[in-house]
Amino acid sequence: MEDRPTPEKASLVKEIAELGPWFQNLDIKGVRTAPDHFLGDYPNFKWRGFRHVIPDDLEGRSVLDIGCNAGFYSLEMKRRNAGKVLGIDADARYLKQARFAAEQSELDVEFQQMSVYDVAQLGMKFDLVIFMGVFYHLRHPLLALDLLYEHVVGETMLFQCLQRGDERIPDLAENYDFSEWAIFDRPDYPKLFFVEERYAGDPTNWFFPNKAAVEAMLRSSGFLIEANPEREIYLCRPGEPHYGVERPPSIR
Ligand SMILES: C[S@@+](CC[C@H](N)C(=O)[O-])C[C@H]1O[C@@H](n2cnc3c(N)ncnc32)[C@H](O)[C@@H]1O
Repeated sequence: MEDRPTPEKASLVKEIAELGPWFQNLDIKGVRTAPDHFLGDYPNFKWRGFRHVIPDDLEGRSVLDIGCNAGFYSLEMKRRNAGKVLGIDADARYLKQARFAAEQSELDVEFQQMSVYDVAQLGMKFDLVIFMGVFYHLRHPLLALDLLYEHVVGETMLFQCLQRGDERIPDLAENYDFSEWAIFDRPDYPKLFFVEERYAGDPTNWFFPNKAAVEAMLRSSGFLIEANPEREIYLCRPGEPHYGVERPPSIR
């Protein structure tokens, strides 16, 4: 027979259930927030695959976690001795979870309801920007990348985007003649697959890039790819804007 939970544990379990449903499976004082996640122990199993690219000691560096959800990465960065950590998300329900998780973990992390399109309002650059699992939920993905490049990425950006399609990187010419059609039918040509209705039951999935498109879009917004430690994960830093880009006046 299972031990009867203490009143404290029973009340924690109740509070966590009331804040649900959770997307991130956090461990809050031994209680799992999403033990039945369809991806498994998410995002723990992903984090274990690439956490070595983030310094163990962030030495007070500032962190912005965009689309922070229940705060998994924000809390991990604070545990790695980050200084100011700000998590933003468009969804107030997730932010409530994140504030609860930070409070229970006694970690000083700020959370704010904000869309990625509004990051200019933050008025500062962050040493590390985490932009994981949001890109394919955006109707205007390049606008978001351009805004991050322009306004918030100081040193490093940790980026992840769900990818579909071909995983090869093509060797492309800088220019093709107007009569060229065949190149676009190559599976490895940079492509964004548009989802008009839903994918995996989720109506907020809009564009899935293939690998070549993710990398080309990052470069096109001015990011240099420093590492691709596992599938879909990129460590980038701001470089020069792409050679051909004329930035629109709104984000200059
Ligand atoms: C798939 S979850 C990823 C959560 C977390 N970053 C991770 O990797 O586990 C996508 C998150 O992005 C948030 N989101 C979607 N559109 C957004 C936007 N325009 N601005 C900020 N957050 C957004 C959602 O509310 C959700 O919490």
